[in-house]
Amino acid sequence: MPVKNRFAELLSEITAWRRDIHENPELLFDVHRTAAKVAGLLKEFGCDEVVEGIGRTGVVGVIKGKSDRAGRVIGLRADMDALPIIEQTGVAYASKVPGKMHACGHDGHTAMLLGAAKYLAETRNFDGTAVVIFQPAEEGGGGGREMCADGMMERFGIQEVYGMHNMPGLPVGHFAIRPGAMMAAADQFDITVTGKGGHAAKPHECTDTTVVAAHIIVAMQTIASRNVDPLKQVVVSICTVQTDSTAHNVIPQVVKMKGTVRTMDPDVQDYVERRVAEIAEGTALALGAKAEVAYSRGYPVTMNTPENTDFAAEVARAVSGQVDTDAAPLMGAEDFSFMLNERPGAYIFLGNGDTAMFHHPAYNFDDDVIPFGSSWYAGMVESRMPAA
Ligand code: NI
Repeated sequence: MPVKNRFAELLSEITAWRRDIHENPELLFDVHRTAAKVAGLLKEFGCDEVVEGIGRTGVVGVIKGKSDRAGRVIGLRADMDALPIIEQTGVAYASKVPGKMHACGHDGHTAMLLGAAKYLAETRNFDGTAVVIFQPAEEGGGGGREMCADGMMERFGIQEVYGMHNMPGLPVGHFAIRPGAMMAAADQFDITVTGKGGHAAKPHECTDTTVVAAHIIVAMQTIASRNVDPLKQVVVSICTVQTDSTAHNVIPQVVKMKGTVRTMDPDVQDYVERRVAEIAEGTALALGAKAEVAYSRGYPVTMNTPENTDFAAEVARAVSGQVDTDAAPLMGAEDFSFMLNERPGAYIFLGNGDTAMFHHPAYNFDDDVIPFGSSWYAGMVESRMPAA
């Protein structure tokens, strides 16, 4: 099962959908035009069911195979949202919306899954049910979490779920995957240090919050260097430091800091959450000030189930013959993790060749990727649920 010939025939049509979505980028849950286009096409393809408004603006299509003896249901997911970036690709189909751009290739993911849906609805050469999932708000809004919270998995009886993301720097048509943690959990925290401000020439009459904050920033780096097992991944970054003094000679009353934590292991995540609070509060106390910590969890670890990962790699191998099954995990985070927390499945990277990295104004999705992506999505259904 190499790249399916049907996708060579459909390439210009799928490319046209992709470029239309690219010209009309929408952010977060506000993907009304894109969702309406997706739903309209799914209906045109003859999907058995098309449901809009799951997880606010998500769209789900149901395609039944020729038979349903084994009662299996597979979910395939793409994301639909763009980013608040001013496009600088110079392509003919560049964004028509100032300040918004498909700089992560979600337009490509959506088009490739639409292509697979069209093919699957035409051929239905499988035993079971394919559920195509188009989610909003991957870029920070938690659209995947919202779709799950809306009961999507139960409502459509999804038993396993698969996602894909294009990858700049990996040759077009090459796939990369790994079992276990594929992408990190991303959490964030706010620290407020309160002391006693005053005249900078009389520090003995103050509790200097900037010195306290500096000690906290340095001590925070001992989480990675001294606390967590060196063989386990962790990043703690403090990215914003703000005092309430604007003068050269006033010690501030308050210093506020913001930071992010990236981890690959739920136990490490729990531990780091505790250490961030202990270090901030303990350091402040030792130096006579007070620290308050607000820690909030974002996207969880994207955890590939080993058996489903092997299967996803096998289908990718059949499509292109080029699969790295020991891909390095990324410290970025992915909203598909919420779906993988509810069902077994896997998330795979597909090479997008030589272009700028995601979220860069010169990033470009290569339409030559389309036949590989659509073939993989369709192949997952046909191979996982072979026609009886
Ligand atoms: Ni993305």
